[in-house]
Amino acid sequence: MERRPLGESGLDVSTVALGCFAMGGKKWGGDVRDEDSIDAIRLAIDRGVNLLDTAASYGAGHSERIVGRAVRGSREKVVLASKIMVGFQDEDEVRMSLEDSLRKLDVDCIDLYQVHVPNRADMDANLRVLEQMERFRGEGRIRAIGVSNFSTEQLDRGRQVARIDSVQPPYSLLWRHVEMELLPYCRRHGIAVLAYSPLGQGMLTGKYSGAVSFPEGDARRPNLLFHPDNLDDSLAVVDVVSRIARARSRTTAQVAVRWVLQQAGVTSALVGGKRPEQVEENLGGDGWALSEDELQQLNRISQQVHERRTTTVPENLMIWQDVPDPFDEPVRSRIREQYLESRAVT
Ligand SMILES: NC(=O)c1ccc[n+]([C@@H]2O[C@H](COP(=O)([O-])OP(=O)(O)OC[C@H]3O[C@@H](n4cnc5c(N)ncnc54)[C@H](OP(=O)(O)O)[C@@H]3O)[C@@H](O)[C@H]2O)c1
Repeated sequence: MERRPLGESGLDVSTVALGCFAMGGKKWGGDVRDEDSIDAIRLAIDRGVNLLDTAASYGAGHSERIVGRAVRGSREKVVLASKIMVGFQDEDEVRMSLEDSLRKLDVDCIDLYQVHVPNRADMDANLRVLEQMERFRGEGRIRAIGVSNFSTEQLDRGRQVARIDSVQPPYSLLWRHVEMELLPYCRRHGIAVLAYSPLGQGMLTGKYSGAVSFPEGDARRPNLLFHPDNLDDSLAVVDVVSRIARARSRTTAQVAVRWVLQQAGVTSALVGGKRPEQVEENLGGDGWALSEDELQQLNRISQQVHERRTTTVPENLMIWQDVPDPFDEPVRSRIREQYLESRAVT
C-alpha cells in the first residue's frame, strides 16, 4: 500500500485510509455490527492501511471504542485520527473531548487530532481551539493537528497560531468544490489532504439505480447527492464510472477511489466501510492507475454535473450536507447536553 507524508508531521499515511463513521452504529442503518467493524479494521491493517479516521461524535464515541478494541495489539502499526466533539469550542469542552477520546481509544496519544467543523461566525473561537491543540501537542497527547471543513481563509488564520498538518474536506467525483482553492492552497503549503466521503456515502459504488429514501436521523438523509433534484446527475456520473470499471475489470467503488487518489494534492482517501468485504473491495483503489483517457472521460461528466449543481447549491457550503450549524447556540447547547448525558452513563 502506497504511503504519503501527513504534512510536516513526520508521519506517513496509507493512500487508502479507513473511515470509521458508520462503525459508530448510529445514523447508518440497521446492519452495523461491532464484530464486523472490528474484523474490517483488522483486515485493513493486515493489508497495509495505517490511517484510521474516527471522531468523538461518531455514535457518541462508540466508533472510537470499536477502533480502540480493534487496534489493541497493533497500536504501533496505525496512525489514529480523531476529532473533537462537533460544536465544542470552550477550553474545558476541548480538554474533556480529548481526554474522553484518549480513554475510549485506550491510548496515551492520538496521532492526528482534528477540528471537526469550524465556527463560521466566530473565527476567534477556532483560533482558541487550535492554540489549545498546540498545547496538547506540547504535552505529547497528540502528534499532529488537522482541521476539517475549513475554507482557505480559515486555514490562513489558523496557521498563524498552530502548525496545521492536514485538512479533511469532502471530495469525490460528485463533489469537487475543493479544486478551486483548497487543493492548490494545500499543495502550496505542504498540507496533507484527507478526502472524505470519496464514495459519496455509497452513491459511487453503483448500487443505487433510482430514488432512495433514508429514515429520519440517517446520515445520508440530508446528503445532497441523494436529493431528488440531484439524483439524475449523480447517476449519470455513476454510469461512466461503472463503464470504465467494467472495461478495466475493476469495481465502480475502486474506480471512484482511484480517481480521488490521482488528483494532485490528495494524500489519502478516507473510505468508509462496515464489513470486511466492503473494505476488501475498497482496498482495490490502490496499486493501479487510470489512464489519461479514462481520467478525461470521468472529468468531463463530473465537471458537467458539478457546474450545474453550483447554481443550485450555496457556494459557501463546504460540507456536502444540508445540516444545522452546530455553533448555532440552541443546537450547540443540545449537543453539549447530550454529550454530558452520554458521558454520565458510560
Ligand atoms: N470530517 C467530516 O465532516 C466527515 C464527514 C463525513 C465523513 N468523514 C470521514 O470520511 C469517512 C468516509 O466517508 P463516509 O463514510 O461518509 O462515506 P463513503 O466513504 O463515501 O461511503 C461509505 C459507505 O458506503 C458504503 N460502502 C462502502 N464500501 C462499499 C462497497 N464496496 N460496496 C457497497 N457499498 C459500500 C457503506 O455504507 P452502506 O453499506 O450503508 O451503503 C459505507 O459506510 C468517514 O467514515 C469519516 O471517517 C468525515
